[in-house]
Amino acid sequence: MPGRILIVDDDIDTLRLVGMMLESEGFDIIAANNGQRAISLARTEAPDLIILDIMMPELDGYAVTSQLRQERTTRGIPILIFTAKTGMDDKMLGLELGADAYLTKPISTRELLSQVNRMLSPSEESDQPLPDQKSKGVLAIMAAKGGMGVSTAAVNLGIALFKQTEKPVIISDFRPGQGSLALELGYDQSASFNRLLTLPPEDLTPQLIEDTIIEHNSGVRLLLSSPQLQDAKYTSRIDNFEIIARFLPQFAEYTVLDLGPGMTTLNRKVLPHCSEVVIIVEPAPQSVAQSKELIAELSTLGINQDQIKLVVFNRIHSRLQLSFGEVEEQLNLKIASAFSPNRELVNEASIHHTPFIILKPEGLTAQQINQLAYSIIGQDE
Ligand SMILES: Nc1ncnc2c1ncn2[C@@H]1O[C@H](COP(=O)(O)OP(=O)(O)O)[C@@H](O)[C@H]1O
Ligand SMILES: [Mg+2]
Repeated sequence: MPGRILIVDDDIDTLRLVGMMLESEGFDIIAANNGQRAISLARTEAPDLIILDIMMPELDGYAVTSQLRQERTTRGIPILIFTAKTGMDDKMLGLELGADAYLTKPISTRELLSQVNRMLSPSEESDQPLPDQKSKGVLAIMAAKGGMGVSTAAVNLGIALFKQTEKPVIISDFRPGQGSLALELGYDQSASFNRLLTLPPEDLTPQLIEDTIIEHNSGVRLLLSSPQLQDAKYTSRIDNFEIIARFLPQFAEYTVLDLGPGMTTLNRKVLPHCSEVVIIVEPAPQSVAQSKELIAELSTLGINQDQIKLVVFNRIHSRLQLSFGEVEEQLNLKIASAFSPNRELVNEASIHHTPFIILKPEGLTAQQINQLAYSIIGQDE
């Protein structure tokens, strides 16, 4: 597994220390003590990973990152920013420029090593160009209002994606104080997600986030919000949520985020990091009108029509109901799937703490979720 690592730091002691540590783990080490040298070594030596300092005279780590991301030969090399800069903005800037991960000095050997191993792990398709700006495979799921089955859909969709692709999937609800997934699935894990939210944002590391993720017996992985009402106060920790949203795709092919109803401050901050948004709408005039506003707001956040998957939840039967064609026309979107009500099945799933797609995988309700998963996967291929 070991590979070739380029370490870039203007501090010779750091170069030596980190270099020796990684060498003793069997890695092949190349070192550069300035940005210009780093770029030329990246071009000629084709390292498997670059560990990059930010604060260096002349060409700093940001400049190096952005230069490497522009060149065809160096674009795909994973970059781990390793720096004493601890500010939130510094961290975000590094990631926005195209770095893949960020660790703050000082750090334990174990933590650095585990990050390096993760970035070099063969399960990652190393020949693929790295995702830029928007994280690939991050699906937000939401509705204009509450009670539309968003949380139910999130968990079942995550499992459907896992079953269809057999690739790692994470499901998370960004709803502290209203974590219905924990209740539905029968977990009491609130303390650990809360802890991520109480930390100063600059202390959030990929390792800490990964340690908070739990395994579900279906094979998906979960990062569950607290269902305890008093924890709703953590909704204001939007910088933490933003960092978590940026890091989650490192651990999974698909990340399903239950963002719940409406365009909250939190959602506004997280949505730009999502590659697709699933919107659940009722085929009724008011719901469609509200969803239209939601879609307009999404476009101000840089999310276009082609990144939206529309789902109709055909729950109410009234004479006011719109046809699917009318919904599509008013929202200028094709319907990706339709959910029909199945109270009995949903209740049974709830009682057994088992998502309906596992309870009744061949049923219509499961097939409707599968169809949504299908349309998401199909588009990525
Ligand atoms: N397909 C369905 N058929 C019937 N009831 C459903 C269905 N999906 C969800 N529900 C129920 O609707 C309510 C709201 O669902 P939930 O997933 O919590 O929605 P949200 O997250 O949008 O508030 C819950 O009581 C849930 O059991
Ligand atoms: Mg919910």
